[in-house]
Amino acid sequence: MRLNEPTHVKELLKGILPIEVVDAHEQFYGAVLGLSNAEEKRIRFREVFYTVLSGIAKKYGCDWLVQGTIAPPDWIETKGGIKTQHNVLEQIGIDTSTKYGFKLIEPLRELYKDQVREVARALGVPSEIINRQPFPGPGLSIRAVGELTLEKLDIVRRSTEIVERRLGDMGLSQWFAAAWEYSTMPSDELSRNVVNLGDLHVNLFKVRATGVKGDSRSYGHVALVKGRLTKWDDAYELHRYLTIGDVTHVIYGLTEGDSGKYFVSIRAVLTEDFMTADVPRLDRNTLVNVAREIMSDNRIAAVGFDVTPKPPATIEYE
Ligand code: XMP
Repeated sequence: MRLNEPTHVKELLKGILPIEVVDAHEQFYGAVLGLSNAEEKRIRFREVFYTVLSGIAKKYGCDWLVQGTIAPPDWIETKGGIKTQHNVLEQIGIDTSTKYGFKLIEPLRELYKDQVREVARALGVPSEIINRQPFPGPGLSIRAVGELTLEKLDIVRRSTEIVERRLGDMGLSQWFAAAWEYSTMPSDELSRNVVNLGDLHVNLFKVRATGVKGDSRSYGHVALVKGRLTKWDDAYELHRYLTIGDVTHVIYGLTEGDSGKYFVSIRAVLTEDFMTADVPRLDRNTLVNVAREIMSDNRIAAVGFDVTPKPPATIEYE
């Protein structure tokens, strides 16, 4: 969860729904800490999530679970093999009655995200809830890219707080931070592809991240572009030259220090249906200022801005 999220959600729902917060972090950490592969993390997360819910359902004698699974991206991407969204079960043949002891009700399963917001407006749901940016079921675990550790989760949690606060009033659809080890290898071949855009050097990170290419899942490299662009607007063109082969995300480096272990990526997108997404044209100085605040944590070596639309990237990294 993000910083103070359980308390914040409890406050938001006060007077709307009776709510009990269940702290199951030990079970989640036990299942996913140490895992590196994106789909493995997602599947283990899903198992713990529904096993915990199954225990709660038994405790209260519930036969039904109501959940907010929607069409795209949830079951459409899961069935399409792009990524396992945590809340898709029946659509991929999981019988919840035998496995978890409850049946499902999914009133929103045929709707798109913008249609869900329309229904919420018609029902009079408070706008703070309607306009909350989506947060994935597996939470920060899929933004702590590669091997999941408590330290990496902590870096993501702190950086996300900064990105959400500083980019919060720009009309974005989703904006957050992700982190992984700052370990790269140079790519002369990719560097040659961008010689016309400035004095640039392209490196590949060792971690892998998810993308969509030609409607299929791709789990490939993340490219980091360092150096001076002739003009800032070209940052938004970099992906055209670099998402070749198995490169799924392209990040432009904003700032770098002398020490530190982690790289933090600032991610921001504009989208209606979350099946495709654009990168907003943010001003370079704004991004550098956000990056500098993130760099005040001496465990962070460098910060960049992800300039890849969906497709060929996905919005999240895993
Ligand atoms: P991607 O990364 O697939 O994300 O482009 C599309 C939208 O889905 C959200 N997302 C999830 N939501 N459970 C969810 O409830 C999940 O497992 C999950 N994975 C991604 C993501 O934040 C974005 O809004």
